This record gives sequence, structure tokens and C-alpha cells, in this order.
Amino acid sequence: AKPHSLELLPGTTTSFWLYGDDPSAVSGSPINGPVVGPLIDVREGDTVEIAFVNGLLQPSTIHWHGMPVPPDQDGNPMNPVAPGATHVYRFTLPRGSAGTYWYHPHPHMVTAEQVYRGLAGPIIVRAADDPLAEWPERHLFISDLKLAADGTVAPNDMMDWMNGREGQFVLVNGVRRPRIVVSRDERWRVWNASSARYVRLTFDDGRRFAQVGTDGGLLESPREDLTELLLVPGERAELIVRAGSGEGAEGARTAPSRAVLTAAVYDRSKMAMTHGSLPPDPSRALADVEFTPAADANDVEASSANIQAQRLLPTHLRTITSLGKPTARKSVVFSEQMDMAAMHRPGASNHGMPAGMSFLINGATYDPNRTTLTSRRGEVELWSIENRTDMDHPFHLHGTQFQIVERESDGKTIPEPFRAWRDMANVKPGETVRIATMQSMRGERMFHCHILEHEDLGMMGTLKVI
Ligand code: C2O
Ligand code: CU
Ligand code: CU
Repeated sequence: AKPHSLELLPGTTTSFWLYGDDPSAVSGSPINGPVVGPLIDVREGDTVEIAFVNGLLQPSTIHWHGMPVPPDQDGNPMNPVAPGATHVYRFTLPRGSAGTYWYHPHPHMVTAEQVYRGLAGPIIVRAADDPLAEWPERHLFISDLKLAADGTVAPNDMMDWMNGREGQFVLVNGVRRPRIVVSRDERWRVWNASSARYVRLTFDDGRRFAQVGTDGGLLESPREDLTELLLVPGERAELIVRAGSGEGAEGARTAPSRAVLTAAVYDRSKMAMTHGSLPPDPSRALADVEFTPAADANDVEASSANIQAQRLLPTHLRTITSLGKPTARKSVVFSEQMDMAAMHRPGASNHGMPAGMSFLINGATYDPNRTTLTSRRGEVELWSIENRTDMDHPFHLHGTQFQIVERESDGKTIPEPFRAWRDMANVKPGETVRIATMQSMRGERMFHCHILEHEDLGMMGTLKVI
């Protein structure tokens, strides 16, 4: 990680903090624009060694979001890498760990800043027996950018700290509103790597797509005919996007068409007082997508004999077993405390964080010297995560994937409609989400709200696994 300058808006230079030596070396790749870390593409069974050289002027770590890496290799805030120091992260990827992950810094109190200055990148772990291995793959790494008028990355203001930062720009693979040409049916991996922006993915013409995977890999069977999918900060999904419309006669399937991939409005009940913040791009566009199905004679590549344009999606992707009956319970409660007088007292900030604004877990803010919860290795647990605040918070647990069991609100309990491996679970105001989970390694794990400003303000706990 080190500073780099880029000309992102014409005539202004923006300094980012980036992973990788030379951002221009990756900017031409179809996956990584200049402000996305390099793609790490590995397989189950691989032992991975990644040397992290901290070229920043502040401590940092690399956290392997969602991956079952040993606790001391997971970039916890209690294992900082000092400025100028090098740490080699080393882990082996177990069978069953295939999925779509990402990496980002996790240092105490400055995670949000390091991410919004550019530090984040994708990791894919592949399975030997992936039923979709032959599908052409496309990657959309969504991040958020807030610039000041002079073209520099803006620091967080009070509203950013309270609501979570949402800038004027949404980037896909590090660029604004890229053009995508889909000439064959494709498997998309989509990451929401923004600090706080909830992305409700949809095509502006209402076209349908299928979901085949979540954070921790494939579903049991495709969820067909979706017109939208919510990705909360930190969350990933695998989709099937078809080149043809899939509707009507054969002609409609092969006619070229276009649509705007959009982040539709999602009301996450942000707190009031949003005046003064910059208005979002009213188009809410993520990317312009052109669909040119293979039968279009102009598409030489897709109509060549050895490329299959329309594929048959298997109805069974894999089996996800239940974790079994939980034998322990854990309770996590999100709450908040605002002391308006302290918030407006000048000079009372820590790393630019306003005083008097606390986001709490089980009644306390994060304390590096305190264990919040203790779990036993190999024990199946039922966690209840309750939101006693007025806004959504995306819950995240390190070290393992979990399964959402049910959601309860207004006295009504709704079982999760399908089984999936996840490491993110959105919790709405007044809601309780129950997840089944099991840790397999001894050591300390973090759990927190993945609105990074809330995490830095203390909405994080330590789970000690014994
Ligand atoms: Cu993606 Cu603890 O983080
Ligand atoms: Cu994580
Ligand atoms: Cu939060």
C-alpha cells in the first residue's frame, strides 16, 4: 500500500492510497481500474503468501474479508503493520472455501479512511468441481468516491460519520459508468466495496437475471427471474446475466438491446440533517450495458463456432448442508448514543471522529482490551443480532461463513427462504436477525457493522474462540 496520484477528473490530480506497485500496470486490465487493488485469483487447497509492504505514514493491516484464514493472519486491528514495515500473510484455503471475497485494511479507528482513499481489492477462490467453471466471467467491483472541489479525496464530515460516507461517485472497477458489452450469457461476480452505500442492483429496463451465489460461493440452485438484488456494504453476489432478453420469440432473444445497470434507491433510514451533503448522481447509473446476442452476425467473436452463446444453467449447483442444531446462543445488540453538545464542541475529535457520537454493541464501544463474546471451537451457535437504532446496520462476522436462519420484526418471524453461505447480514431498525455459525480456529475474531464509519466509531466487538 502506498500513495499514488491519478488524473481522474480532467485537470485535477487526485491522490489515492493504493495496493500494488504501479496502478497504471493494472488499469488496462478488464478487471481492475486504477483505484482497485489487484485481483487475487486462487484455488481451494492453495497456500497463499502475500507480502504486504506498508508504504503509508500510518499503521495498517490487510483483512481477508469472509475467508477462513487463521486469526493471526486475518489483519485484525490488534495486529497492525507499522509504517515502513512488511508482513507476509500466509494461509491455506480449505476445501469448500470457494467464493467471492475481498481484502481491505482493518486498523483501529482508520479503516474507513484507508478504504475511502482507495485500499480495497477482490479475491476469488475457485473450487475444482465448480459447475459453472466454463461460463465466461465478468467482475464488477463497486466502490464509492467522494471528492472535494479541488479534486482531492474529501475527508469525512459529520454526516459521513453519522450516516456512513456516500460520495458523489460510484465506481465500477475503479471507473465511472463503464460500458459493458454482453455477447454471451455470463457469470457476474459483484462486490459492494463501498463504506456505506447500499446498492440495489437493477437494470433500468426491468430485465431479469438470476442469482447463483452469495458471499461464500454458490447457492444450491439458481434464483431465476430476479429484477433486483440488494447488496449491502461488504456483500458480494454471483449472477447470471443473459445476452438475449430471454423473453418472447426467438427473434427477441437475439435482437441487440441496451440497459443501464442501476443502483436503485434503497431507504436505509439514514438520520435526518442530510442538508449540505452533495446530491447523488440522479441517474444512479453503475454501467451502460449493451446486449449483442451471438446470432448478431456483427459479433465475430461470439458467433465463432467454439464459443457457446447461450448456456444451460444447471438446476442444481451444489448441496449446502445445515450446520446442525445449535448448542450455544449469542446475543448482539446494536444501539447508538448521541450527545449533541459534545458533538459540536470543537477540538474534541480523535482521527477526525466527532466526539459524542457513539455506535454501540451490547452497550459498549469497541475496546481493544476487552473480549465481547467467547465461543468454543467447533460448536454450532445461534446468534441473535438485534438493531435498536433508527437506521439499517450491515452485520459482519470474521473467520467463517454463516447461514441466516430467520428474521423477526413486529412480533413476526420469517424463516430465511433459501440456504446460503454469507458473511454479511443486513439488520433493519427494530429487526432481529438470527444466524447459525461455527468457528473452527482458536483465536480472536472481529464482528462489526460494515458501515466503516460506524466500525471506526466503535460498533465492533471481539469474539474470543477457545
Ligand atoms: Cu470487511 Cu471486519 O471487515
Ligand atoms: Cu471481514
Ligand atoms: Cu452501522
